[in-house]
Amino acid sequence: MSIANLDPTCPPMISNAPMRVPPTAAVIFGATGDLTHRKIVPAFYHLAKNKLLPDDFAIIGFARRPKSDDEFRNNLGEALRKFSHTQPVDEEVWNKLSAHIYYFQGELDDAEAYKRLAQKLKGLPESAKIGENYLFYLATAPNYFGDAAKNLAAAGLASRADGTRHRLIVEKPFGEDLQSAQELNRTLQSAFAEKDIFRIDHYLGKETVQNLIYFRFANAIYEPLWNRRYIDHVQITVAEQVGVEGRGGYYDHAGASRDMLQNHLFQLFTLTAMEPPASLDAESIRDEKVKVLRSIATPAPESLQKNLVRAQYGGGYIGNKAIPAYRQEDRVDHQSLTETFVAVRFEVDNWRWSGVPFYLRTGKALAAQFTEINIIFKRPPSVLFAASASSKIHRNSLRIRIQPNESISINFNAKVPGKAESELVNMDFSYKSSFDDYLPEAYERLLVDALVGESTLFTRADEVEQAWRLVDCLHNLWSKQKIKDLPLYACGSMGPVEADLLLEKDGRHWTRPRELKT
Ligand code: BG6
Repeated sequence: MSIANLDPTCPPMISNAPMRVPPTAAVIFGATGDLTHRKIVPAFYHLAKNKLLPDDFAIIGFARRPKSDDEFRNNLGEALRKFSHTQPVDEEVWNKLSAHIYYFQGELDDAEAYKRLAQKLKGLPESAKIGENYLFYLATAPNYFGDAAKNLAAAGLASRADGTRHRLIVEKPFGEDLQSAQELNRTLQSAFAEKDIFRIDHYLGKETVQNLIYFRFANAIYEPLWNRRYIDHVQITVAEQVGVEGRGGYYDHAGASRDMLQNHLFQLFTLTAMEPPASLDAESIRDEKVKVLRSIATPAPESLQKNLVRAQYGGGYIGNKAIPAYRQEDRVDHQSLTETFVAVRFEVDNWRWSGVPFYLRTGKALAAQFTEINIIFKRPPSVLFAASASSKIHRNSLRIRIQPNESISINFNAKVPGKAESELVNMDFSYKSSFDDYLPEAYERLLVDALVGESTLFTRADEVEQAWRLVDCLHNLWSKQKIKDLPLYACGSMGPVEADLLLEKDGRHWTRPRELKT
């Protein structure tokens, strides 16, 4: 489905009928930052281009530095021309949108600034039609999230029961452990109703991630096999070729476990493992995802130790691009023990999955850039082929490629013509060859959903906390270990040898991405 075809209403997400984006003023806190320039404003531009925004729409950038509206618009325009995923930029659309973009100078921790903001919002040229429909986007450093929510409330801009829509988008990181996430949830919920809080995990905005729900529940042929009777194990990999690329200050505190595992990998994990929801509304889907996390028992340190690997990249080359060792990256401690790679084995203790391991891994500076879910089925009984080709009867597997080259493929054993032998062959579906429609970027999808109040693709408070419960176990174990050094892996490899051993000790191995097959 092309979102352009649905002009001027927005496309249904997973569940809802198309809804019209109401006239709204969107306030971006952290308006001079990278995220605003690279992702948020380009996403608004694409929504405008696809006629998904109403005419009465305004964007207000809130930041500390002095700047005029025109300067702000020019900076955003330059960034758009550089980062837009469709080129060239349609200048007519941009000019029309940018005429409704304003700059507001204020300090995030200054309560008075929010009162001035409330006045500014009321005095916008568009405000007669917009009324008090506001979307506040916290694209700031996380230490300001709490202040901003409290100050919005004090200025009368938080959730209200008078029919106006006051909504809040919060970027990650959402806390740094269970305790801080709980505190943040409490602070946000003291200002905004949970239904008005939209915690972004941009993986949920990816079409291929949303397709997991269709793939599993709109087909009769996979779901009967989707359980411990037929599935041997599941692998989820988010591999990146890039290093920390100038984000050392943030990353050295977060590491792969907080930056990727707690959010993006757990989203893929819960969507793969969840039970069919009672309906396709936001709460039913999110209830099922939370149930998956609740079904993972808090692992004891002794067993977790055997099922967990962390490592850090040394320097080297990926292709002909030189990557410095992690400890040589800008704003990274030269003796840093932060993991840039993590692999972990979890089990979901419920009726469907009992005894089926889920192996999750993610890392930076790896050999290939890809996100994949591999479902590995149990080996078929090999009696029939025992005498001839038994050693060649492989397990069936299903490869769900989230990015890039979005695709789904199933492999099976086929007879090699003229020989009493079998070989694994693939049946492939590729997004590109099946659909030539416009593929929206994650932020476009998520912004539209927040604007219409559709929460399915956002992380609920209890989901965030359950994910932290598990990630905290990793950190508790690591802090007890008091290690002096970390295993290093070569840049451009698929991680440390320990990650391979994690599966090999169970008689399994990681599925290689197609890019790395010789
Ligand atoms: C972000 C992480 O959330 O996701 C980054 O902070 C990571 O470290 C990025 O590179 C990966 O996102 P994507 O969409 O490129 O897979």
